[in-house]
Amino acid sequence: MPRELSLAEVFQLGYYWETKILLTAVKLDVFSTLDGRGRTAAEAAGKVGADVRALALLLNALVAIRLLTKAGDLYANTPVATTHLVKQGPQYVGHLLLLHDAEWSNWGKLEDSIKTGRSPVTQHVFETDPALGANVLSVLHRIGQQSGPDLAKRLALDQARTMLDLGGGAGTNAIAFCQVYPQLSATVFDLATTLPLTERTVKEAGLETRIALKAGDFNRDSPGGPFDVVLMSDILHYQDLATNAALVRKIHGHLTPGGRLVIKDRFLDASGTSPAWTAAFAVHILVNTERGACYRTAEAMQWMTDAGYESVVELEQTAVVQGVKSREA
Ligand SMILES: C[S@@+](CC[C@H](N)C(=O)[O-])C[C@H]1O[C@@H](n2cnc3c(N)ncnc32)[C@H](O)[C@@H]1O
Repeated sequence: MPRELSLAEVFQLGYYWETKILLTAVKLDVFSTLDGRGRTAAEAAGKVGADVRALALLLNALVAIRLLTKAGDLYANTPVATTHLVKQGPQYVGHLLLLHDAEWSNWGKLEDSIKTGRSPVTQHVFETDPALGANVLSVLHRIGQQSGPDLAKRLALDQARTMLDLGGGAGTNAIAFCQVYPQLSATVFDLATTLPLTERTVKEAGLETRIALKAGDFNRDSPGGPFDVVLMSDILHYQDLATNAALVRKIHGHLTPGGRLVIKDRFLDASGTSPAWTAAFAVHILVNTERGACYRTAEAMQWMTDAGYESVVELEQTAVVQGVKSREA
């Protein structure tokens, strides 16, 4: 049984002030303004186009949060802010925070969503703001480069020759899989607006000859193939249950006999309360996607079973499920 929350912790949960202070500072690009040298509030206000008194309050709060330092009247970045919040830096993560900021007004409508069951949005970020979507993917690509090789090794794909990374985004998994398995070639299938980023990452990895890019809508268009392995990583929580079931069925026709479909997602356990991060993410998906949801692992396994996959298993709890196409098919 988890420990009960203290009253102080309950209050802390209710204080979203620091969250919005950080997001606003990133939106105003305060940290880039302070890069390299300390500035007064007046200097910074001139650079970011802000009211001096109001910006000074924000800067003071950022000092208290420990993202800035203050010596006399001069504000400067802390090392973590320099590394991750200055736009020109190679380890900038601000794009991800900008996404959270862009979703702020949707969260403001949470009460309505809970009462009506409907989301205030009609499209997801990759459709409404492809540039922001691509920026977010590039951050996720950088910080998520370890998980791809780990997943590739766990799947033991020594016999596979062809892979489809459906909704492959920055190509993080396709790149990792090809690096782990020298015999493997991959196709990244994604929206045309996302693929310029993929082209860049694949080139950076030197895998242009082994990773092909294919543009389209995976619910409507053919991904080609057949493939020995198809990966759906973090794409299904944007869609409704019937669309996912149909996609899993369709992909069965794009697998070689004995080929497998691997779904990696943010699944919930049977109770819907765990993992804790995913239980909160499910609310995020409710307000920020029109028809998305976090599904139970059992639901994903049912899509596979209904579509005729065999040996359907949960490879990693609440994270990875796999189904195999019959060799007789
Ligand atoms: C959260 S990202 C996941 C990216 C990648 N699979 C990963 O795990 O890093 C979702 C991806 O799905 C793509 N996507 C969303 N809807 C799509 C559709 N209807 N057809 C093709 N790609 C789509 C987006 O462009 C984006 O790259």
